[in-house]
Amino acid sequence: MERTFAMIKPDATERGLAGKIISRIEEEGFNIVGMRLVRMTKAEAEGFYAVHKERPFFGDLTSFMSSGKTVVLALERDNAIKHWRDVMGATNPADADEGTLRKEFAESIERNSTHGSDAPDTAAFELGYWFPGVALNAG
Ligand code: CMP
Repeated sequence: MERTFAMIKPDATERGLAGKIISRIEEEGFNIVGMRLVRMTKAEAEGFYAVHKERPFFGDLTSFMSSGKTVVLALERDNAIKHWRDVMGATNPADADEGTLRKEFAESIERNSTHGSDAPDTAAFELGYWFPGVALNAG
Protein backbone atom coordinates (compact mmCIF):
# COMPACT_ATOMS: atom_id res chain seq x y z
CA MET A 1 0.00 0.00 0.00
CA GLU A 2 1.23 3.47 -0.90
CA ARG A 3 -0.16 6.94 -0.29
CA THR A 4 -0.20 9.95 -2.56
CA PHE A 5 -1.45 13.50 -2.44
CA ALA A 6 -4.07 14.79 -4.87
CA MET A 7 -5.91 18.06 -5.49
CA ILE A 8 -9.06 19.02 -7.34
CA LYS A 9 -8.14 22.51 -8.50
CA PRO A 10 -10.25 25.70 -8.57
CA ASP A 11 -11.12 25.41 -12.29
CA ALA A 12 -12.79 22.06 -11.54
CA THR A 13 -14.55 23.01 -8.29
CA GLU A 14 -16.00 26.15 -9.88
CA ARG A 15 -17.50 24.06 -12.71
CA GLY A 16 -19.06 21.60 -10.27
CA LEU A 17 -16.75 18.73 -11.20
CA ALA A 18 -15.54 17.76 -7.72
CA GLY A 19 -18.13 15.00 -7.31
CA LYS A 20 -17.34 13.41 -10.69
CA ILE A 21 -13.61 13.44 -9.91
CA ILE A 22 -14.12 11.97 -6.41
CA SER A 23 -16.30 9.23 -7.97
CA ARG A 24 -13.48 8.39 -10.37
CA ILE A 25 -11.03 8.25 -7.45
CA GLU A 26 -13.28 5.69 -5.74
CA GLU A 27 -13.85 3.71 -8.96
CA GLU A 28 -10.07 3.46 -9.36
CA GLY A 29 -9.86 1.67 -6.02
CA PHE A 30 -8.31 4.41 -3.94
CA ASN A 31 -9.07 4.54 -0.25
CA ILE A 32 -9.60 8.21 0.67
CA VAL A 33 -7.70 8.63 3.94
CA GLY A 34 -7.98 12.42 4.12
CA MET A 35 -10.12 15.02 2.33
CA ARG A 36 -10.71 18.73 2.94
CA LEU A 37 -12.07 21.70 1.04
CA VAL A 38 -9.61 24.60 1.28
CA ARG A 39 -9.49 28.14 0.02
CA MET A 40 -5.72 28.44 0.02
CA THR A 41 -3.98 31.75 0.54
CA LYS A 42 -1.41 33.01 -1.95
CA ALA A 43 1.27 32.32 0.69
CA GLU A 44 0.03 28.73 1.14
CA ALA A 45 0.10 28.22 -2.63
CA GLU A 46 3.63 29.65 -2.80
CA GLY A 47 4.78 27.32 -0.03
CA PHE A 48 3.17 24.29 -1.63
CA TYR A 49 4.64 25.02 -5.08
CA ALA A 50 8.01 26.34 -3.76
CA VAL A 51 9.85 23.84 -5.99
CA HIS A 52 8.60 25.90 -8.97
CA LYS A 53 9.46 29.35 -7.58
CA GLU A 54 12.03 30.16 -10.28
CA ARG A 55 9.67 29.16 -13.10
CA PRO A 56 8.06 31.88 -15.23
CA PHE A 57 4.56 30.56 -14.47
CA PHE A 58 4.99 30.65 -10.65
CA GLY A 59 3.09 33.92 -10.11
CA ASP A 60 0.18 32.95 -12.33
CA LEU A 61 0.05 29.43 -10.87
CA THR A 62 -0.09 30.61 -7.25
CA SER A 63 -2.66 33.32 -8.07
CA PHE A 64 -4.87 30.74 -9.79
CA MET A 65 -4.53 28.23 -6.97
CA SER A 66 -5.56 30.88 -4.43
CA SER A 67 -8.47 32.12 -6.57
CA GLY A 68 -11.09 29.57 -5.50
CA LYS A 69 -11.84 26.33 -3.74
CA THR A 70 -9.53 23.30 -3.88
CA VAL A 71 -10.23 19.80 -2.60
CA VAL A 72 -7.07 18.32 -1.06
CA LEU A 73 -6.94 14.53 -0.71
CA ALA A 74 -4.72 11.87 0.80
CA LEU A 75 -5.17 8.68 -1.24
CA GLU A 76 -4.10 5.12 -0.60
CA ARG A 77 -3.80 2.17 -3.00
CA ASP A 78 -1.16 -0.14 -4.33
CA ASN A 79 1.11 1.87 -6.64
CA ALA A 80 -0.87 5.00 -5.68
CA ILE A 81 1.55 7.65 -6.97
CA LYS A 82 1.85 6.26 -10.49
CA HIS A 83 -1.76 5.13 -10.69
CA TRP A 84 -3.14 8.57 -9.84
CA ARG A 85 -0.81 10.20 -12.37
CA ASP A 86 -2.01 7.76 -15.03
CA VAL A 87 -5.65 8.54 -14.19
CA MET A 88 -4.98 12.31 -14.44
CA GLY A 89 -3.07 12.16 -17.73
CA ALA A 90 -0.44 14.58 -19.02
CA THR A 91 0.01 17.98 -17.31
CA ASN A 92 -0.92 19.73 -20.55
CA PRO A 93 -4.39 18.55 -21.61
CA ALA A 94 -3.31 18.85 -25.24
CA ASP A 95 -1.04 15.86 -24.59
CA ALA A 96 -3.44 13.88 -22.37
CA ASP A 97 -4.70 10.46 -23.45
CA GLU A 98 -8.36 9.57 -23.97
CA GLY A 99 -10.01 8.46 -20.76
CA THR A 100 -7.86 10.61 -18.48
CA LEU A 101 -9.29 13.29 -16.21
CA ARG A 102 -7.28 16.07 -17.82
CA LYS A 103 -8.36 15.02 -21.31
CA GLU A 104 -11.99 15.13 -20.17
CA PHE A 105 -11.96 18.18 -17.91
CA ALA A 106 -8.82 20.35 -18.15
CA GLU A 107 -9.03 23.71 -19.88
CA SER A 108 -5.30 24.53 -20.20
CA ILE A 109 -1.90 23.63 -18.74
CA GLU A 110 -2.66 25.98 -15.82
CA ARG A 111 -6.37 25.23 -15.42
CA ASN A 112 -5.68 21.50 -15.54
CA SER A 113 -8.26 20.39 -12.97
CA THR A 114 -6.16 18.02 -10.86
CA HIS A 115 -2.77 17.60 -9.26
CA GLY A 116 -0.86 14.56 -8.05
CA SER A 117 2.51 13.99 -6.44
CA ASP A 118 5.15 12.83 -8.92
CA ALA A 119 7.42 10.78 -6.63
CA PRO A 120 7.67 9.42 -3.06
CA ASP A 121 9.64 12.42 -1.77
CA THR A 122 7.15 14.94 -3.18
CA ALA A 123 4.25 12.83 -1.87
CA ALA A 124 5.79 12.97 1.62
CA PHE A 125 6.18 16.76 1.44
CA GLU A 126 2.73 17.39 -0.08
CA LEU A 127 0.84 15.03 2.28
CA GLY A 128 2.59 16.61 5.24
CA TYR A 129 1.82 20.12 3.98
CA TRP A 130 -1.97 19.62 3.96
CA PHE A 131 -2.41 16.61 6.26
CA PRO A 132 0.09 16.89 9.09
CA GLY A 133 -1.70 14.09 10.97
CA VAL A 134 -1.73 11.56 8.13
CA ALA A 135 1.10 9.06 7.95
CA LEU A 136 2.86 8.61 4.63
CA ASN A 137 2.54 4.85 4.70
CA ALA A 138 -0.38 2.71 5.65
CA GLY A 139 -0.33 0.57 8.77
P1 CMP B 1 0.75 20.56 -11.26
O1 CMP B 1 0.81 19.09 -11.43
O2 CMP B 1 -0.17 21.09 -10.21
O3 CMP B 1 2.22 21.11 -10.94
C1 CMP B 1 2.65 22.43 -11.28
C2 CMP B 1 1.66 23.14 -12.11
O4 CMP B 1 2.11 24.27 -12.80
C3 CMP B 1 1.15 22.23 -13.20
O5 CMP B 1 0.34 21.21 -12.64
C4 CMP B 1 0.45 23.19 -14.13
O6 CMP B 1 -0.91 23.36 -13.81
C5 CMP B 1 1.15 24.52 -13.83
N1 CMP B 1 1.80 25.08 -15.03
C6 CMP B 1 1.47 26.25 -15.59
N2 CMP B 1 2.24 26.49 -16.65
C7 CMP B 1 3.09 25.44 -16.77
C8 CMP B 1 4.15 25.11 -17.66
N3 CMP B 1 4.49 25.91 -18.69
N4 CMP B 1 4.78 23.93 -17.48
C9 CMP B 1 4.46 23.11 -16.44
N5 CMP B 1 3.48 23.39 -15.53
C10 CMP B 1 2.80 24.54 -15.71
